[in-house]
Amino acid sequence: MAGIGVTPHVGLKSAYEREGWCEPPYRFSDAAVALLRERTLAISRERRPEVVHEKDSGTVRAVHGCHAFDEVCAALVRHPYLVELAEHLVGGPVYVYQFKVNLKQAHEGAAWPWHQDFAFWHEEDGMPHPDAVNIAISLDDVHAGNGPLMAIPGSHRLGLLDLPEDRAGDEDSDWRSHVSADLAYTVNADRARTLAKQNGRKLFLGTQGSIQVFHPSIVHSSSNNVSSDRRALLLITYNAVTNAPTRPTRPTFLVSRDATPVESRADERLDLQVLPDPASSSR
Ligand code: SIN
Ligand code: MN
Repeated sequence: MAGIGVTPHVGLKSAYEREGWCEPPYRFSDAAVALLRERTLAISRERRPEVVHEKDSGTVRAVHGCHAFDEVCAALVRHPYLVELAEHLVGGPVYVYQFKVNLKQAHEGAAWPWHQDFAFWHEEDGMPHPDAVNIAISLDDVHAGNGPLMAIPGSHRLGLLDLPEDRAGDEDSDWRSHVSADLAYTVNADRARTLAKQNGRKLFLGTQGSIQVFHPSIVHSSSNNVSSDRRALLLITYNAVTNAPTRPTRPTFLVSRDATPVESRADERLDLQVLPDPASSSR
C-alpha cells in the first residue's frame, strides 16, 4: 500500500484470530489527533441526541455517529489504512456500523463493566455473525489511572456468555442502557475474573494516536477514571457488508442503516507515523 512505506497488515490476522485483538504498526500523528480532538470535543458541547451524559450528571460520557455529520470524522472512516485493515480482518468489503467517542472525563468518567459488544448487536439489532471489527484510536495518552480499556485474550472464541433469557427483542429495551455504566448485557464478574486468571488481561495503553483493534465478542471492560487526565477513545466499528443487521430499531447514530461499502480516500490532514519496530529496540 502506498503511504507510510510499510506493508502494515501482514501477520495481524493470525494474531487477531488467536487473541481477539491486535495493534497495527502505526499511529496517528499529533496533528491528526489534535484535529480529531477539536472536532469531537466541539460536538460534545452541542445539545444533540448523539451526546450521552454520565448518570445523574451533566458530564459528557460519549458522542455517537459523528462521521455522519462532521467532515473530519467522515474522512477518518475512509482512511485507506483503516479500511484496508478492517477489510483484511473481516475478510471482505465493510461499512461503518458504529462510530463513537467515549470521553471518560478526569475524575468523573465512569467504568464500563465486563461485556461483549456482539451481545448488543446480535440481541438488539439482529446482527447475524460477529463479522465486524472495532478500531480504537486514543485521542489522549492512556495510562493505568485514566480508565484504560482492558480485554481478556482468547475470550472471543467462547461465543456469547451470560445472555439474559428473555431479553432479546424486548420492546421496552432503552438504548441508553447500551451506552451507560449500567449495561444491559454484561458478563458475570466472577466468570470474567476466572477467565482473566486463565488467559490474562490486555490493557490498551499508549500515547495519543495509538490504535488498537478488538473483536466484537472479546470480553472487555474499563474502570473509572480516577486521575486528573481525560481519556478520550474514538471507536469505529466496521461491519462486513454481508452481515447487516436484520431488525435494527435503535437510533441510526448507534446502528447505521446504510451498508454500502466504504470507499477509502486519503486525507493529508489524517497522517500516520510508523511505530519503531519492537524487535529492533530489544537488540
Ligand atoms: C471504554 O470506552 O472504555 C469502553 C469501550 C467499549 O466497551 O467498547
Ligand atoms: Mn464495548
